[in-house]
Amino acid sequence: MKVTVVGAGAVGASCAEYIAIKDFAAEVVLVDIKEGFAEGKAMDLMQTSSLNGFDTKITGATNDYSKTAGSDVAVITSGIPRKPGMTREELIGINAGIVKTVSSSILEHSPEAIIIVVSNPMDTMTYLVHQTTNIPKSRIIGMGGALDSARFKYRLAEALGCPTSDVDGMVVGGHSDKGMVPLIEKATRNSVNVSEFLSAERMDEVVQATKVGGATLTGLLGTSAWYAPGAAVSELVKAIALDSQKMFPCSALLEGEYGLNDLCIGVPCILGKNGIERIVEVSLSEAEKVHMIESAAGVSKTNGLLNS
Ligand code: LAC
Repeated sequence: MKVTVVGAGAVGASCAEYIAIKDFAAEVVLVDIKEGFAEGKAMDLMQTSSLNGFDTKITGATNDYSKTAGSDVAVITSGIPRKPGMTREELIGINAGIVKTVSSSILEHSPEAIIIVVSNPMDTMTYLVHQTTNIPKSRIIGMGGALDSARFKYRLAEALGCPTSDVDGMVVGGHSDKGMVPLIEKATRNSVNVSEFLSAERMDEVVQATKVGGATLTGLLGTSAWYAPGAAVSELVKAIALDSQKMFPCSALLEGEYGLNDLCIGVPCILGKNGIERIVEVSLSEAEKVHMIESAAGVSKTNGLLNS
């Protein structure tokens, strides 16, 4: 497995680090436009290999996509991150141009690559990759739901006073403060629905804290988060590398699933060696359906900005 990570900023470097530490890939190539930056990050990370015990080879390249040739998976993290007070949607103007150029450069050298989109506004950037490349939809995956679900589990565990390993939960819908749909009615602690332990008010607090998970961190850090985004990407790449058939909420092109069409939005997907092996249609409650439709309307509105 050869993985390219475009953008050697905090999120890209964190992706490369977690992929290397999990030690399932032969090679990770970091690419950045800033002269020497990706090479420096790659060298620094390689100098952790004897300490962290991985054999993955990490290299860096300054805008030279020939080094990425033959990648099985390419992760796009490039573009500008949001600053405190900004929404992910406000990044569209600059990031759309970058994502378009990057995806075409990747495919020029790795025509069979599966592309994972992280750049924001992520659902719209994923849709843009669909619009501007002619690769099958199974090979275009937006990373948002895996991260939002990890943040949901963190908040659930906090409310329940238990480790995150005791809880399970999933966030579908758009990767935006308003668009996320944490499936609280389906969340469990060791297979018992969390409503048996938490009041409706507490559950609502968990949902709200989850939805602004990224914004809370942006406020604290002064820029967008990177550890959890990097870790979430590494899990998607691992599922593809190991052909594990694990289910993650990912932004996928919908063609009628959930009654939605012509947009990319977070839905449960089975990941394997072909990328999105299958979209899973789980039954949603009436309230969840309403939230999903509202979320889709928000994503479609942002998609409309692509052509303006
Ligand atoms: C976040 C960015 C990656 O949610 O969208 O932290």
